[in-house]
Amino acid sequence: MTASTQPAAGASAASPPALSVRDLRKTYDNGVEALKGISLDVHPGDFHALLGPNGAGKSTLIGIVSSLVNKTSGEVNVFGVDLHAHRDQAMRLIGLVPQELNFNMFEKPRDILVNYAGFYGIPRAQALVRAEEELRRAQLWDKAQMMSRTLSGGMKRRLMIARAMMTRPRLLILDEPTAGVDIEIRRDMWKTLREINAAGTTIILTTHYLEEAENLCRHLAIIDRGVIVEQGPMRTLLAKLDVEGFLLDIDGALPHALPQVGGATLVALDAHTLDLDMPRAMDLNGVFAALDAAGIRVRSMRTKSNRLEELFVRMTGPQAAAQPGKAA
Ligand SMILES: Nc1ncnc2c1ncn2[C@@H]1O[C@H](COP(=O)(O)OP(=O)(O)OP(=O)(O)O)[C@@H](O)[C@H]1O
Ligand SMILES: [Mg+2]
Repeated sequence: MTASTQPAAGASAASPPALSVRDLRKTYDNGVEALKGISLDVHPGDFHALLGPNGAGKSTLIGIVSSLVNKTSGEVNVFGVDLHAHRDQAMRLIGLVPQELNFNMFEKPRDILVNYAGFYGIPRAQALVRAEEELRRAQLWDKAQMMSRTLSGGMKRRLMIARAMMTRPRLLILDEPTAGVDIEIRRDMWKTLREINAAGTTIILTTHYLEEAENLCRHLAIIDRGVIVEQGPMRTLLAKLDVEGFLLDIDGALPHALPQVGGATLVALDAHTLDLDMPRAMDLNGVFAALDAAGIRVRSMRTKSNRLEELFVRMTGPQAAAQPGKAA
């Protein structure tokens, strides 16, 4: 899949990528090779996920793109603007939402936004108008004059996004914005991010929550140990997954010998739980018939993990895919 030759829907073939990275390398002073030649294109209007295990190089990549980290070699262009040659111009196109909350908790949301805009040279009158727009979009307008410290966790996260949007970036980059927040807050943020994307802003999101990428993103790149191991449309990558995993809760005790079902793998995890792996194309009837014939009664079943999780494990963990009892 060469993402580089595919314009996003609606974008003309002539429009440059929102982000174009070519053979990007980074070796830190301590000798760690965090990026070993990464090439990536993100098209205008896309919602793009950057996935990878701890230490893969995601934050290094984002750091270089947002000018917080110096590259060792390679090229970065933002909407056709060379980051190296025209840093300020490129930076004006980017909004960054870092992982950690980094606003002053003793300031009010509206002041945080207006001051941030001032920092970027936006006149105060204009900043006040934008602050209202962004606070309304973030559903924080009624909190505009409260001490930020008193906002809930989800509100603080939305405030971080609203702040980044004050400069009207064409490319919004979020580094694990939902790390460690509960599912309700995440859903809340998804809504905000979808709205921002729908309004035309290109979004790049790094996340450990694979479900999040599956929910939000149209393209993804999986990065592992400084290289991109897989990239392309989410749908194409998901289609590559032909194996589905289920956990079956069993009534009563399991027999010593489990039935054989051609094409599927059945493993007893404990006396009352079966782990089932089977090709996606295969139907469940044969499995249930075999279980029934063996006197095994299935009380309930659940999917073992989501598909993106499977994909991720396959792409980044060399032995992981071969382990039948890996559900625990
Ligand atoms: N300032 C630094 N100096 C030296 N090594 C660094 C520095 N920052 C990161 N590294 C190393 O570079 C590699 C990539 O780190 P990076 O933070 O980019 O990974 P990541 O994919 O963002 O991981 P995580 O998911 O844990 O945030 C790691 O081996 C890390 O230890
Ligand atoms: Mg990181």
